[in-house]
This record gives sequence, C-alpha cells and structure tokens, in this order.
Amino acid sequence: MLNIKGVIFDLDGVITDTAEFHFLAWKQLGEELGIPVNKELNEQLKGISRIESLEKILESGGRAGSYTANEKIELAARKNGYYLRLIDSITPSDILPGVEALLQELRQAGIRTGLASASHNAPFILDRLGLSHDFDIMVDPGEIGRGKPDPEIFLTAAHLLQLSPDNCMGIEDAAAGVEAINRAGMHSIGVGDRAVLSHANYVVESLLGLRLQDLG
Ligand code: BG6
Ligand code: MG
Repeated sequence: MLNIKGVIFDLDGVITDTAEFHFLAWKQLGEELGIPVNKELNEQLKGISRIESLEKILESGGRAGSYTANEKIELAARKNGYYLRLIDSITPSDILPGVEALLQELRQAGIRTGLASASHNAPFILDRLGLSHDFDIMVDPGEIGRGKPDPEIFLTAAHLLQLSPDNCMGIEDAAAGVEAINRAGMHSIGVGDRAVLSHANYVVESLLGLRLQDLG
C-alpha cells in the first residue's frame, strides 16, 4: 500500500510542452553544425543538462573531440538563445491539460509538491505560466552534482520536502527522469509514450489521466 505524502514534478514535457522547444532549438544548432537532430536523438536529450545534451549531439555527429571546453560553452549558450526566443511567448494557456487540476487536488489533500527540473530556465517558465507559487519547494539544478538518471535531484527534493523518498512520487516525461525516480526509491509516473517509459510504475498519456486515487 502506497502512502504518498509528496509529489515531485519534472517541468519540461510534464507541466508545459517546452520539451518541443528544446528539440527545435537543438535542431537549429545541429543544422548550423551539420549534425542532424531527429526525434530519436532528441528522446535521449530529455531530462539531461544543456551541456550533456550538446555532448550527445556532438557524439552522434562523430565530432565529440572537435571543440574546446570554451567553444562548447558558447555552443550551449547559442542553443539557449534560440530556446529563450521560443519560450518568450508562453502564457498560462500553455500549461498542459490536467496539471492545474492535479495541483489543486494535491493541495486539498494536504500532499506536498516539489519541482525537480534540470532546467536553469525553470523559474522563468514557472513565472510565465503563473505557477511560481504553486510548489512547496523547487530544487536549484545549480546545486546538483549529478544529473538525471542519477537520483540526486529527486532525493534533494524529498529532503527539502522533509519526506522520506518512499513517501514520494515523481512525475516525468523522460526515460532518464523515470530512472532517476526509480533509483531514488520513489514511485514513478511516466507521462507520454509507453514504449519509452516502460520502466515507470504507472504510465499515463497526459496528466488528465491521473487522479488522486491512482496515487494509492
Ligand atoms: C530538462 C530538459 O528539463 O532541462 C532538457 O528535459 C534540458 O532537455 C534541461 O536540456 C536543461 O535545460 P536548460 O533550460 O537549463 O537548458
Ligand atoms: Mg522533462
């Protein structure tokens, strides 16, 4: 029997569809570098940091050793510039279906909520969505040493919520994120493609499909 006292959300691809904007921004940088970024490669970029994403793209193009550390920082910053342009127009209407109802249901049930996003743009996005005050805690990815699939970010969220990991549930759209939740010893909910998220304890197509009673 589950005893869920806290729910820890990923942001990109769970709360809003910024996963698509990350894809478009990497695709643009890839075109400039002559490295194709398709949906399959993009799936491996979900949940992981900006610089790790760049490393994977360079690797896929056989160019892992072609750039200095400073050049990679510049390329990652260029991608972030494209991304910022894409997210500039987001509004509360871009909150994915089911998110607000679930947050409200959790609050009414006294279940604490947290945000565990690898994105340094998370505070800006939450602000744009009007959700800055809707989470009890938010992990600062700058404080995290090992990114997803390492469990560190979810364990930090549980610590900030003052909850034991086995009383927490994590919600993710990325394979690396679901692995991080599982390795943290939490119950995992995957949002999206069942084939990609088969290691989650429970998979829904969208958060519209997740009700409090599903949380045990
Ligand atoms: C994650 C995304 O939430 O944040 C990744 O799934 C992204 O695709 C990572 O690379 C870092 O985001 P940012 O906004 O700091 O570049
Ligand atoms: Mg995500």
